[in-house]
Amino acid sequence: MIRLPGLIDPHVHLREPGAVHKEDYDSGTASALAGGVTMVLAMPNTKPPIFDADTLDSVLNSAQQKARCDYAQYVGAGADNATVAAALAPRAAALKMYLDATFGQLRLDDMTLWMEHFMRWPGDTPIVTHSESRSMGAALLMAQMYNKPIHIAHISLREEVLLIKAAKEHGIRVTCEVCPHHLFLSEGGIPLSTSGACCTEGLSGGRAEVRPRLATAQDAAALWENLDVIDCFATDHAPHTVPEKDSENPPPGFPGLESLLPLLLTAVQEGRLTMEQLVEKAVTNPRRIFKLPVQHETWVEVDENAVYELHAAEMHSRCGWTPFEGWKVRGRVTRVVLRGTEAFKDGKILVQPGFGKNVREVDWD
Ligand code: DOR
Ligand code: ZN
Repeated sequence: MIRLPGLIDPHVHLREPGAVHKEDYDSGTASALAGGVTMVLAMPNTKPPIFDADTLDSVLNSAQQKARCDYAQYVGAGADNATVAAALAPRAAALKMYLDATFGQLRLDDMTLWMEHFMRWPGDTPIVTHSESRSMGAALLMAQMYNKPIHIAHISLREEVLLIKAAKEHGIRVTCEVCPHHLFLSEGGIPLSTSGACCTEGLSGGRAEVRPRLATAQDAAALWENLDVIDCFATDHAPHTVPEKDSENPPPGFPGLESLLPLLLTAVQEGRLTMEQLVEKAVTNPRRIFKLPVQHETWVEVDENAVYELHAAEMHSRCGWTPFEGWKVRGRVTRVVLRGTEAFKDGKILVQPGFGKNVREVDWD
């Protein structure tokens, strides 16, 4: 048995409000605990989006009643809420800005709108952008012009990791995250690891849809080769139900909270990642970048030699599927202790909805 600190996932979609049939603060935070994640930062592309004090109050009220692990909630950058969003900064996980097409209607096309947010956001926490390729380049320019920290969500391309590397070398205040699906899958959901030997034909139809899209094996190799440039692992846990994913018009997104740690532990066993890198990118760096408190008496127990298959039927997310179905992994989360309380053991969630705390409202340090 080994003990790890509780993981922090800076990129999770909990679908509350507006689509709780996919997930809510209860099921999503149960899924987190089962995956060894004790703190989640929840995205604002809900229905309605989290754009102002009323929507933030409302979602935090649900979270307070339902969350089982600790959390903070993002505020979204809209076309006309730069002043309002900036005023909410102390209560928000950070600001999320959508610059490319994805699920929901939050994309900001006009760069003068980005400028409003970069000017006004206070900058204790980063501006997190969904920005791919050239829009990422433009977002880096904004960070440089306004001297604000920027965190690039879910990088997937070789050109992205190499541009971030160069931007860091030039002193731009940029950090970034990568998702397991961009490390372990290529276009069409083809596995890039022997763990996925079950599934060499890839993912069918809508199951493979995710934004940013799954990239080439060369892109994934560049992410692995430049792990030192990547600050965080993040799941972009984006649950959509099986009927939705298998429909004519499948929404993009993969669930990920319960496959994150098994996949990373397997990579450690295979020598692709060190345990130190795992803890740095899944705990220490997210805590530093997002100014999160230390969760005392909080840890994850792992049976590092357990070899088993991932199956959605054993997971806690409401969405009912995983892009890693049948993958053979090595390393199982057996027990999670959160702030001194046993929160998960042998497949069972042991804390009730409401146990989770809003980390922007506590003073633990
Ligand atoms: O695939 C995705 N799904 N990418 C995103 O950026 C959003 C997410 C969602 O909310 O479903
Ligand atoms: Zn996302």
